[in-house]
Amino acid sequence: MPAVYDKFAANYDRAFAPLERLGLRRWRQEVIDLLPTNANILEIGCGAGANFEFYPECKRSVSSEISIRMLEIAETKRRENHLIQADAQSLPFGVDEFDAAFATLVFCSIPEPTLAFKELKRVIKPGGRIVLLEHVRPEGILGPVFDLINKATLALADDHFNRETAKLAADSGLKIVEVRKKLGTIVNLIVCEV
Ligand SMILES: C[S@@+](CC[C@H](N)C(=O)[O-])C[C@H]1O[C@@H](n2cnc3c(N)ncnc32)[C@H](O)[C@@H]1O
Repeated sequence: MPAVYDKFAANYDRAFAPLERLGLRRWRQEVIDLLPTNANILEIGCGAGANFEFYPECKRSVSSEISIRMLEIAETKRRENHLIQADAQSLPFGVDEFDAAFATLVFCSIPEPTLAFKELKRVIKPGGRIVLLEHVRPEGILGPVFDLINKATLALADDHFNRETAKLAADSGLKIVEVRKKLGTIVNLIVCEV
């Protein structure tokens, strides 16, 4: 069955270019800077490979993604990292296979995020770090606005615009080390530990 992002792949980089200039590139670097170096690193939902240029020195880096069309574009940007088609809710890796994992703008589109967190807990070593950059349901008056927008994004792209990702991670048994709030509270950089 085709993944939702198959139909966005060809235009993804062009559509995101203004956001990259507005600060997304800087936040991508910030996410990577929170990962250990010379370690086994897993990225989930790597999309068209926007993070590849920021990858740290790794023992082994694996970039996973559910959409084959996104992976085809990611392949053109590949460096030392290995690419693999995989659903974050059912990862094809062994117990404790990685030292750390990260994802940027992915948990909004995973149907069952708690399954993905369960999988991350399985494949990341105890004490290992998971770093997420996600748009979330903002605090205050914008919260109900995002609830409304969510109806449209769900219909158009199966995107959960108002996810409370840090809470879902904590409810899934991950330790929340830090939440850095960006764009007011619209974007969260979430640092968790297994
Ligand atoms: C908004 S894009 C972000 C892509 C990339 N991480 C970035 O920062 O540009 C969301 C990505 O998550 C992927 N995705 C959605 N559900 C997924 C799942 N269950 N498992 C793995 N990847 C998934 C989509 O195919 C898409 O490439």
